[in-house]
Amino acid sequence: MCGIIGGICQNNITPLLVSGLKRLEYRGYDSAGLVILNGDNALQRVRAAGKVVNLENNIDSKTVNGKIGIAHTRWATHGEPTTKNAHPHICNGDVGVVHNGIIENFLELKIEQQAQGYHFSSDTDTEIIAHAIHQTLQDSDGLLAAVQKAVKTFKGAYGISVISPKNPGHIIVARSGSPLVIGVGEKGNFVASDQVALLDVTKQFIFLEEGDIADITLDSITIFDKSDIQVERKIKTSKLQNRQISKGDYAHYMQKEIFEQPQAIADTLESRITKDKVLTSAFGYEAKDIFEKIEHIQIIACGTSYNAGLVAKYWLEDIAKIPTHIEVASEYRYRNPIILDNTLFITISQSGETADTLEALRAVKKRNENIHSLTICNCAESSLTRESELTFLTHAGVEIGVASTKAFTTQLVSLALLSVAIGRCHGQVSAEQEKAIVTGLNQLPGLIKKALAQENQIIELAKTFKNKFNALFLGRGPMHAIAMEGALKLKEISYIHAEAYPAGELKHGPIALIDKDTPVIAVAPNDELLDKLKSNLQEVKSRGSQMIVFEDEDSKVTPMNGLSIIPITNNLGRITAPIIFTIPLQLLSYHVALIKGTNVDQPRNLAKSVTVE
Ligand code: F6R
Repeated sequence: MCGIIGGICQNNITPLLVSGLKRLEYRGYDSAGLVILNGDNALQRVRAAGKVVNLENNIDSKTVNGKIGIAHTRWATHGEPTTKNAHPHICNGDVGVVHNGIIENFLELKIEQQAQGYHFSSDTDTEIIAHAIHQTLQDSDGLLAAVQKAVKTFKGAYGISVISPKNPGHIIVARSGSPLVIGVGEKGNFVASDQVALLDVTKQFIFLEEGDIADITLDSITIFDKSDIQVERKIKTSKLQNRQISKGDYAHYMQKEIFEQPQAIADTLESRITKDKVLTSAFGYEAKDIFEKIEHIQIIACGTSYNAGLVAKYWLEDIAKIPTHIEVASEYRYRNPIILDNTLFITISQSGETADTLEALRAVKKRNENIHSLTICNCAESSLTRESELTFLTHAGVEIGVASTKAFTTQLVSLALLSVAIGRCHGQVSAEQEKAIVTGLNQLPGLIKKALAQENQIIELAKTFKNKFNALFLGRGPMHAIAMEGALKLKEISYIHAEAYPAGELKHGPIALIDKDTPVIAVAPNDELLDKLKSNLQEVKSRGSQMIVFEDEDSKVTPMNGLSIIPITNNLGRITAPIIFTIPLQLLSYHVALIKGTNVDQPRNLAKSVTVE
């Protein structure tokens, strides 16, 4: 949700701001802007609606030249995605601000500021930040003190970077609820929402904590905590490589990430299993004690991560025999759930920064101190990993395509390991059963390669979606969750309206939707529900629908006119099947999106990391 970059160095900062913004576009891409302090010690701003490339085209490199600057790529919350609403926002030529988050009391502050004579030139909540700092700057000893005073009046979430000609040579940054990382360079110091934006200039990072405010100059970084007390934060060396964030030979990040899944899964399994056992300690050294104590599980997540949690509910009840509930975070956080003692509260998140998920965790911790928390997360230095008792990192690598792919399958692998680990702690998993599951998981990279090899057949099927506007996905048991993930992928990147149903539910209403223009996609592993699913497929087929069935080689779905059957794999277990059957659904969405000509990696209205509620 919005990307921020800033820096102070010995050369012109503008090229770094632009290249960094391009790497942050996954966080938002409806408008972009930058402001630098130029040679005349004046704020010089350039903004453009649309993608960063529009901003780049507006920059005259001879005139937009300065050694200190801040920049922003936006995902609109308050105010349309127009140039006037693009960041940075400036107050009276004295304060330039970029902001990620939402200031919830902005209307109240706006009314006060208008009464004091401040003029507003945008519809954003961010502009009140610029005015508030301008106001506190009048009677503060420098920009740092002004920001420290101003942020105390904000309610909501913010990651901000501020510069001012009144205090040249300083960037003041503050975070509360939105991520910010400081890059410690040899020839300057930098700040960004995500380390990927700064990899060209440094590998050394300081991850700011909640409430931190930092004063960054060319050769110093001074950090204060939420009580304005100076603190030390560790410098960490990032292992990220530039090649991990490039598209390589692939046309899109999403395509690259789909094909990276065999490796991502192998990386997620590495050092977490032996030949026949899951290592409980992989969840943290206190994990065994906690797992033995827990009596209930509550899973909270959003979007694709929620779909992974839905599959896990089946596994945790089936394998570990622990009552498990799951709910989307944006609902859970605002109701009064009954939180039983000895509940393991599991959050699932690629980014670890999703505001709804994070706030749900915070709310639960406040309400009941006798719960334990575990996050399944892809980002080591994220808010969720910092605030959870136990962390299990998915080793998917950086995921840049907005539509989540490898994060989802590695989440499933992690949740499978968790189900076994908890099951063993509760005496519910025999050594033989554990060995069978571990053997199946070890086969996943090879099985996924086999599923990926069906791409050409899927490309042919995708062509039939050219003029389609609706689609229905069916599955039963955990495969219903996989159908939901398939429908989510199709709608978010191809803009085709797609719904998923448990196949047995069709006859209770949705079957009325079926006609020749509504393709039906079903996932049919050879499991105990296969016969029931086959009957449901007959019901659909007899209503004239065009159908695609991704099946187990042994499922033997009866061939019919208008029915395309694609074998994906054979003889899968309850754990491996949902993971493998995800692959053809991802490929289908990707190729339908190509045919529809949408922006696969940056679909309209979306952003990768949703740090606002
Ligand atoms: C869909 C997608 C989103 C995210 C959701 C949660 O492809 O990526 O639905 O899954 O916004 O994000 P995380 O997992 O970062 O908490």
